[in-house]
Amino acid sequence: MLSTAFALFCFLLAADCLETHVHGDLFVPDAILRISAQNISIGGIQRYTTLVNGSVPGPELRVSEGKVVWIRVYNDMTDRNTTMHWHGLAQAASPFSDGTPLASQWPIPPQHFFDYELQIPNDTAGTYFYHSHVGFQSVSASGSLIVEDRSNPPYKYDDERTITLQELFNLTDVDVEQRITADPLLWFGENNGFLVNGKTISDYGVIDNSTATLAVIEVDPGKTYRLRFIAATALSYTSFAFESHDGLEVIEADGHYTKPLSTDLMQMGSGQRFSVLLKTKSCDELEQSGRLDYYLQVETRERSAVATNYALLRYRDTCNLPESSVHHLPTDSYPSKKPIDLPPTISGFLDYQLQPLVPNNFPTTSQVTRRIVLNVQQFEDGYYVWRDSNVSWSDASIDSRRYTTPATPYLVSLYTNQTAYLPKYDAAIANGGVDPTTQTFPAKLGEVLEIVLQNIGSISKTNVTPGLLETHPWHAHGGHYYDLGGGPGAWSSEAMEARLQGTLPVLRDTTMLFRYNEATQPDVKSGWRAWRLRVQNPGVWMIHCHWLQHMIQGMQTVWVFGDAGDILKVPRREVEGFLTFGGDVYGNGTHVPERVHFSEGG
Ligand code: C2O
Ligand code: CU
Repeated sequence: MLSTAFALFCFLLAADCLETHVHGDLFVPDAILRISAQNISIGGIQRYTTLVNGSVPGPELRVSEGKVVWIRVYNDMTDRNTTMHWHGLAQAASPFSDGTPLASQWPIPPQHFFDYELQIPNDTAGTYFYHSHVGFQSVSASGSLIVEDRSNPPYKYDDERTITLQELFNLTDVDVEQRITADPLLWFGENNGFLVNGKTISDYGVIDNSTATLAVIEVDPGKTYRLRFIAATALSYTSFAFESHDGLEVIEADGHYTKPLSTDLMQMGSGQRFSVLLKTKSCDELEQSGRLDYYLQVETRERSAVATNYALLRYRDTCNLPESSVHHLPTDSYPSKKPIDLPPTISGFLDYQLQPLVPNNFPTTSQVTRRIVLNVQQFEDGYYVWRDSNVSWSDASIDSRRYTTPATPYLVSLYTNQTAYLPKYDAAIANGGVDPTTQTFPAKLGEVLEIVLQNIGSISKTNVTPGLLETHPWHAHGGHYYDLGGGPGAWSSEAMEARLQGTLPVLRDTTMLFRYNEATQPDVKSGWRAWRLRVQNPGVWMIHCHWLQHMIQGMQTVWVFGDAGDILKVPRREVEGFLTFGGDVYGNGTHVPERVHFSEGG
């Protein structure tokens, strides 16, 4: 085997090269995910959409800190490419496993499979999710991914529940993609409700009662539960709370434990995860209230209409309460009146309040080596695009006048040394951080970047909503950033430093750029968020808004951390199979891929 010879070569030279080996047809992956497109009954409606292992959400995956796991992803669709992304986990050690099409890998062609190698670093225990990174597929093609603690978690709880929030649209994924990229834009409609663990009663008009049902989250009295909330949503900011269960204690945000922080309601944007501790009622309290069921009420925020949906927190009656004294709520209908009065959006929700549980090596202002301002703005010219510092990047490369996406994934271009896509650091520095030729944001290992996201009123040539502002969940691949919070108006370092006084930023991977106002004038700065990032993990990483519609409309950026020497750890001959669309590392019915292992012993 080439790899054995290579390992020996490395050993003899004591060279700093990665040892690799390959797997063949006897290889057994740790988990198998199959992506298909099917017509399903969900929330009482029929919807043709993308599924993982036939369900919405897909199965929960549980992995351990410090381990290497192999997940085989089959693309069972016949007409669409796909990928899988492991949201919140940096695939630093296995560079082709991040699941970003046209950035870190060629997408998996129809009727092919790809083996993802995930290295789960220590100190990453927490709540994550996996999702397709192609088009609108992840509206339904996603599932929870839990990294379990090696030892006892720092908080005590009796049990845990995963609560995944998704949205329900009634158009097909392809319809949505085509409508939002049409010229002129064709409206795709607002979400018509949230799915809680895949369940809801649709407001689109129920035709199948058997699936029009509320999710039930079962608990026992007198216990402490860790609730893991995952916002696997598409376009709607979400506000939610439990009926007569106040004082949720936030203990984790995006895979990092926090000091406990009490809140009565949650707000979440797509891609965010939080764990909270919920103390359940005692037998006495249940008897007093006369109920074993309580609503979880979920509402849209920051959209033109408010959708309201429910799930049930249901107590198992381990108290043996007299049957006449307690009752259940129906799972096949909504309450006639909203049980909770959820407030309007709290701009800056939990900002400057969350604190890390353990010191996290926050870089001081003087350690910052470079600042990059991403001006986030919508541009309308019949078609709609989002521009970040004038870059409009989408894997929906329909029309080159809109998007700057290359024809080849950047990581592949790096390996094949296609100069057109090799980022030029100096050119980028001279151009506000983005290399004008490759449209990437290069950074050197060891840099400490301050990234400012600046909301700017939209420009319209077609006279549609000029000055429009939206709220965006911004997500970074390739490592967590220190979240510096945000504020209204134009960013200034004085305003930011003043807000930071006496606070301890937490490490996050998805935080909200709020709009603070619904609209302003075109080109006026309104609302900012800032991050600090230690550039540590070499690779090709995306930083993007996590609203799926906005991603398709170009609200994505590609960053290249490290130079070719840092990124290309494995010699080209070992990765040849990654370098062409449908190349040797993509298996199919007749071909078993020989796959390089980037990890030792994996
Ligand atoms: Cu969950 Cu690039 O995203
Ligand atoms: Cu957005």
